[in-house]
This record gives sequence, C-alpha cells and structure tokens, in this order.
Amino acid sequence: MIHNGHGHFSQSERAAVYRAIFERRDVRREFLPTPIPDAVLARVLTAAHHAGSVGFMQPWDFLVIRASATKQAVKDLFRRVNKEAAAKYRGERAALYRRLKLEGIEEAPVSICVTCSPLRGGPHVLGRSMVRETDVYSTCCAIQNLWLAARAEGIGVGWVSILDYGALKRLLSIPRPIKVVAYLCVGYVKEFADRPDLERMGWRGRLPIDQLIHHERWGNRRELYKETRQCASPRSTRRPATPVRPD
Ligand SMILES: Cc1cc2nc3c(=O)[nH]c(=O)nc-3n(C[C@H](O)[C@H](O)[C@H](O)COP(=O)(O)O)c2cc1C
Repeated sequence: MIHNGHGHFSQSERAAVYRAIFERRDVRREFLPTPIPDAVLARVLTAAHHAGSVGFMQPWDFLVIRASATKQAVKDLFRRVNKEAAAKYRGERAALYRRLKLEGIEEAPVSICVTCSPLRGGPHVLGRSMVRETDVYSTCCAIQNLWLAARAEGIGVGWVSILDYGALKRLLSIPRPIKVVAYLCVGYVKEFADRPDLERMGWRGRLPIDQLIHHERWGNRRELYKETRQCASPRSTRRPATPVRPD
C-alpha cells in the first residue's frame, strides 16, 4: 500500500518525473571532479535496484570503479575499438565521427560497470522460458532508473558501449557466465545539454513520434496524435539537425 494521499502524484511531483525524463542526457564531457558522496551513490544504485525484472530475477550487479589505473586501462580498450569503428565510415561522415566525443572514462570520477547474471534465480525464472533475453532487458530497466535518478541528483551518466566486453571482463575479473551490459561514466556536471550530443553535432536527430505509433495493425500511421506534439518537452520539439525517417 502507498500511503501518500490516494497514491496519486501531485502536479509538481508529476512535473518532476517528466523533467527528469526529458532532461536526462548522455554525458561524456565536462564532468566536475567533485566526489560523489556514498549516500548519494547509494540512493542512485538503490533506484536502479528497484527496477522491474523478469520473474523478479534482479539479475544486475554494479561494479563501482574509482581507481585511475583501471580507468586508464578501460580507456585503452575504448581507443582500440573506436579506431575500428571510425574506419567503418567514409568521407564527411568519417570526419564527423572523429569529432564526436564518445566517452568520458578518465574525466568522470566514478565508473559503474553494470552486469547481468543469467543464472540468478535458478534454472526456471518466471516469464523467461521463451524470451531468454529478458534478463538483459531487466538490467537495462535498472540502468534507466539509475540514469534518471542520477539526473535528479545533478549527476551526469555516459554509457560507453564502444568497448570489447570480453577484454573488459578480464580486466575487471568478472566471471565467465556474467554478461557486461553497460560501462557508465558517472559524475557531477555543471549543466546538462538541452539536446543529445549526436543531435547537436548533426549526426542524427530525434524521430517524429507520430511516425512511430501504429494503430491496430503495423503500418497504420494515418491517425496522428496531435497531443504528442503538445506533451513533448519544449526542448525536444526542436527541428532535428538532420531530417531522419524511421527505418
Ligand atoms: C545501449 C546504449 C549504448 C550507448 N553507447 C554509447 C557510446 O558508446 N558512446 C556514446 O557516446 N554514447 C553512447 N550512448 C548514448 C547515446 O548516444 C545517447 O543516448 C543518444 O545519442 C541520445 O542522447 P541522450 O541520451 O542525451 O538523450 C549509448 C546509449 C545506449 C542506450
């Protein structure tokens, strides 16, 4: 039972939730060196731990890294993979890719490696018999909770997936059956950008939501929700840097 009033959010509580959602950003630069107090980190990690999970499996673990030697080693892993990733683009796109800042591994005071234990909860986890990946989906829900709670705390989070997770597991002594889901760079920031970095840099813009809503059958996009435009945050209704269409 929830005992705050009738369980309803007040208008300002509702606004705060949407604010955290719309103003969450992936942060890769301008981390402040200010240490994150343990009590704050505990709040953010506890928010992550309260995510939904298949069969209440709670498959996540959070490996908190502060040692600069470890971060340097992770940065080396990033450099290697990023070089290969950059080579996949040609011409202007390749030049733009090289200008993107895609990690803040050494600048952020804390890194959190979020893992998923596929064996947690035993061989028959409720709801997981057909869709085995639900363990990873659950872990992603925890990461999103962490991301939003951190935003409310004034803490930026940057997700780095341009890494060889096998090598990362060896570096962090993560046992073989456990999967790495995210490597997060975490730290206080002075301000949060009003739009995604990739949008501001002209890499890709936000898709119009009404093209992504189908009615009754796939592909029936005729009825547009005008309300979707009104409910979007003013910041996210700006024209995308590059016009994009859903695939
Ligand atoms: C699964 C996942 C992996 C990501 N990997 C990277 C990454 O390796 N480097 C990076 O700069 N951003 C990464 N991002 C951040 C996205 O680029 C970012 O979420 C997106 O551009 C939208 O921006 P926003 O999070 O500020 O709204 C990742 C995000 C997700 C959800």
